[in-house]
Amino acid sequence: MNKFLEISALVCAVVILSSYKILAQMPAENKLADAKNANVLIAYYSYSGNTKEVAQAIHEKVGGDLFEIKAKDSYPEEYSAMTEQAKKEIESGVRPELTSNVADIAQYDIIFLGSPNWWGTITPQVSSFLQSYDLSGKTVIPFITHGGGGVQNTFADMIAQCKNCNVVSDGWAGYGNRMTGLSGWLERIGFSGKASN
Ligand SMILES: Cc1cc2nc3c(=O)[nH]c(=O)nc-3n(C[C@H](O)[C@H](O)[C@H](O)COP(=O)(O)O)c2cc1C
Repeated sequence: MNKFLEISALVCAVVILSSYKILAQMPAENKLADAKNANVLIAYYSYSGNTKEVAQAIHEKVGGDLFEIKAKDSYPEEYSAMTEQAKKEIESGVRPELTSNVADIAQYDIIFLGSPNWWGTITPQVSSFLQSYDLSGKTVIPFITHGGGGVQNTFADMIAQCKNCNVVSDGWAGYGNRMTGLSGWLERIGFSGKASN
């Protein structure tokens, strides 16, 4: 009986100690390991400037390289005609040809990827970006701006269209050009100060 108790106590001690070790090694929830030392690209598409402002604010805080996704696209000046054209493009899966180019995508470990919410999803230009570059093995961090609808399918569609990359689930979404919670979010995912690059 005594032997049994001794063995049980030993087993309990091993389980407790090993689980303590696992917990001690675990990063804080959602924090990206080594974010500070990563090569960062902040890529975004912006039609009317809101997402661009957010991208610039992220760049200001995180460092790295800022990249504007530009494409061969032209939209009517009139707002509702513009939104109708965008709707048709999204529904028919248009992938406009990109006219700006990331010089060496391989050098980046982490890519912040920004899009406006268009009809509940990411823009065709951002879809073209995801289709055009080999992002396998990279960490992609979504940020979106919207006009009141919130995230809708934007993050999910980014995940679906990003082949073999790791899209973090803890993305950021903001109304228009408001930066509510942006700094806190960056800190939460591991970017507490300006990076060296
Ligand atoms: C074609 C189009 C579709 C849009 N669809 C939505 C939408 O479904 N939900 C939403 O909340 N906002 C929608 N908006 C508003 C934009 O997401 C919002 O104004 C965004 O901040 C614009 O970003 P930008 O200035 O970087 O282009 C839409 C805007 C446009 C031009």
